[in-house]
Amino acid sequence: MVSAMTNLNLSVDDALSTTRSVRKRLDFDRPVDDDLIRECLELAIQAPTGSNSQRWQFLVVTDADKRAALGDIYRRGFEVYANMDTSAGALAATMGDLQVAQQRRVIESATYLAENMHRVPVMLVPCLPGRLDEMPNMGGASTYASIIPSVWSFMIAARERGLGTCWTTIHLFHEQEAAEVLEIPYEEVTQVALITVGHTLGTDFKPATRVPLDKFTFWNTWGEERNPNN
Ligand SMILES: Cc1cc2nc3c(=O)[nH]c(=O)nc-3n(C[C@H](O)[C@H](O)[C@H](O)COP(=O)(O)O)c2cc1C
Repeated sequence: MVSAMTNLNLSVDDALSTTRSVRKRLDFDRPVDDDLIRECLELAIQAPTGSNSQRWQFLVVTDADKRAALGDIYRRGFEVYANMDTSAGALAATMGDLQVAQQRRVIESATYLAENMHRVPVMLVPCLPGRLDEMPNMGGASTYASIIPSVWSFMIAARERGLGTCWTTIHLFHEQEAAEVLEIPYEEVTQVALITVGHTLGTDFKPATRVPLDKFTFWNTWGEERNPNN
């Protein structure tokens, strides 16, 4: 594959550990070459799909009016989200000091993105055929997992090319309205996310601090056995 720009040449481990949700370090004023998006999508569709279904569909939104309309929908969704008991702010109330500080940064960053959504140069809307709302877990898990790995691959490929991304779902509060803006047939197609894409300001990103692995990983017996080597 001929690259449209110089890659960062990150190791796989570096790419996996430094692909952050980029919001405040997104260059809103620098356009993104269509070829870069294509490259990332070509890599994305190397991801697995259930039964090799390959039923993924991607809408790349660069049109300024459509981005502005999605920005407006997103901002209204963000107001709904901020008042939910699963919001980053509400979750902070259940967390220890270290995580609370991290949550505060996430909220600040997420608010900044919401305020500037219309300025994001490229929005990628991954979609699946059909409505998935009422599906039993076997079908639902398999269907969503037949596009989510590809989108994460897209985000890692973007990182390698100096692009920043953020997985967002907040516009889905008003999915039908977004479908009208994007001329997606709502009854026949499910939007899975809205991935923001733009060049990053600087290319140095760090691994995130996470809750330690052994707090939620069990070996052989659910809820009990931790890694026997620890
Ligand atoms: C399913 C899902 C939905 C998300 N929705 C949003 C969103 O709507 N807006 C946003 O700013 N970030 C959103 N995020 C990004 C998370 O806030 C982010 O992954 C988390 O804070 C960890 O930060 P990191 O990705 O930089 O490690 C979402 C992430 C996932 C996986």
